[in-house]
Amino acid sequence: MREKSSVDYTTKPQRPSSNNIAILSRFIPFVFKYKGQLSLGLLSLALAAISVLGVGLGLRNLVDQAFSHESSSALNQAILFLLISVVVMAVASFGRTYFISWLGEKVMSDIREKIHDHLLKLDVGYFETVRPGEIISRLTVDTTLIQILIGNSVALAIRNLLLFIGGVAMMLTMSMRLSALSLLIIPLVILPLLAFGKRVKAASRITQDAVADLSGYLEESLMSIRTCHAFQRETQDLNLFKAASTRAFLRSNQYLLNRSWLTFLVMTFVFIGVSGLLWIGGQDVLKGNLSAGQLTSFLFYALTAAGSIASFSEIYADIQRASGAAERLVEILETSPKIQSPHTPRALPNQPRGTIALHNVCFSYPGHPGKDVLRDVTLSIAPGEKVALVGPSGSGKSTILSLLLRFYDATAGSIYVDGVDIKETSLSVLRSRFGIVPQDPMIFSGTLYENIVYARPSASETEVWNALEAAHLMDVIQGLPQGLHTQLGVKGVRLSGGQKQRLALARVFLRDAPILLLDEATSSLDAQSEALIQESLKTLMMKKTTLVVAHRLATVLKSDKIIVLNQGCVDAVGTHAELIAEDGLYRKLAMLQFMDSLNIPDNSKVQKALWA
Ligand SMILES: Nc1ncnc2c1ncn2[C@@H]1O[C@H](COP(=O)(O)OP(=O)(O)OP(=O)(O)O)[C@@H](O)[C@H]1O
Ligand SMILES: [Mg+2]
Repeated sequence: MREKSSVDYTTKPQRPSSNNIAILSRFIPFVFKYKGQLSLGLLSLALAAISVLGVGLGLRNLVDQAFSHESSSALNQAILFLLISVVVMAVASFGRTYFISWLGEKVMSDIREKIHDHLLKLDVGYFETVRPGEIISRLTVDTTLIQILIGNSVALAIRNLLLFIGGVAMMLTMSMRLSALSLLIIPLVILPLLAFGKRVKAASRITQDAVADLSGYLEESLMSIRTCHAFQRETQDLNLFKAASTRAFLRSNQYLLNRSWLTFLVMTFVFIGVSGLLWIGGQDVLKGNLSAGQLTSFLFYALTAAGSIASFSEIYADIQRASGAAERLVEILETSPKIQSPHTPRALPNQPRGTIALHNVCFSYPGHPGKDVLRDVTLSIAPGEKVALVGPSGSGKSTILSLLLRFYDATAGSIYVDGVDIKETSLSVLRSRFGIVPQDPMIFSGTLYENIVYARPSASETEVWNALEAAHLMDVIQGLPQGLHTQLGVKGVRLSGGQKQRLALARVFLRDAPILLLDEATSSLDAQSEALIQESLKTLMMKKTTLVVAHRLATVLKSDKIIVLNQGCVDAVGTHAELIAEDGLYRKLAMLQFMDSLNIPDNSKVQKALWA
């Protein structure tokens, strides 16, 4: 009875379902947007149902007029009527399948777009509280469940309701006595089948789980193929896979057995039911109370009505599944972004100056609200200044850069860029003032060219080549099979760590924003490449404000100012010479790195510092 479109409805994804059916009404406007397709779909649906009922009448005419009276013209007429009914049914079924499925697919793609659009507006913190896999499955699996409902189940429910009402009405016109009897027999046939059907469904779910286990295991084992080879785990892995595979087979065997039993039971029960009706109806025919044609079409309608009731439990399950999906989708749509541009944003100065100021900034990440990552940080950076941010790992350096870009809002205190509180200005204008090389640069699957122009899609080809040259990527490009248009693979797997970093640098060269944020931007480079890139950066930084995060102090010696951060607090601010003169954290860090160059006579002191 069930129909299929682009989705195999027999293996519906398992997701928590819900009884909150009202939530589905949130998606009604999506359907009503396409009134033309909806009307055509419903019209074809009604026509298809009516023509199915017409087939029953055709059967009656065939038996009563043609066969009983042995009239060939009546036979022709009856066949013609049947033929017309069947043609109408076929055309209407085409219309129903096409328009309703079209509606399902279109609404699904609209919902996906709307949710994706909303996701892009949400703040960075949101994505730290929800697993990416969960969001992906909402966008794919949950929208598919809504699509199944709109493109299949609802239409099926309407069709089956029409068939049931029409079928019962026709049965009543044929024979009241048989109709009353059928109302007793039909539930007797259907109820046990429904009960057994549930068992088959449960077995099918267990089979799906076993296959999911298997693919989960396979994914992990293939991803860790190097570790497997290095530790010679092939035999053990083979045995583990064999066991999981056998488990999956045994479960599907159980499912197949149950399903075969169901087929057996359906055939037996339906045959017994039909035979019972035939026997009782046959006696009526013999007595002359009923014509043979009436009995034939009665049976046809009884089977149609029974079939339509049987599918209701399945349709109800679809509705519950879709309600669960709708709840999860609405939850995303109702999450409002915590970081937004104000309604009336204050403009940043037209001519960017590049000043940055932090006033008593405190911050803790939304994922760990109790842990203070920045405490009372106050600092100011003048236009064109080259400032270094140093400090132990975890002291909050990258966090300061994230706050400048307003990925998060400070828990207390304020941040100013060009004299404007960043909360008062437009997010996109604020972000356009920065060029950043993050600590873990993201490379997208696509070509090298696409990855670089990501920073400024409007850039000309010459500008791209200049950026490539400045980031010393020319030799890398020459080594790639398709040069600039080589696909870099997922997360840029075809590049080395240092090459990825140079690509990230090429992006900021191309972006040419007034404030540069470099977070460990040259940490993966060899000494020679680093020296060359420092030269290019010098030119780029000429008229820009620059904030450089660095562990290797040698790269920041010449900064105008060094800010030392320790456990989220500003420990000291000064030039290299000033900070070395103080007996503070910077001196300790510097001692460890420049033992020789500082020429400290007491080597034991250095040793002590090293092991401190
Ligand atoms: N997204 C996050 N959610 C929760 N805590 C975080 C998050 N990112 C960083 N932290 C915590 O905030 C603190 C500061 O992290 P941050 O990345 O700013 O350090 P860092 O100074 O840049 O260190 P490193 O030199 O190792 O890069 C750390 O204790 C870290 O555990
Ligand atoms: Mg960092």
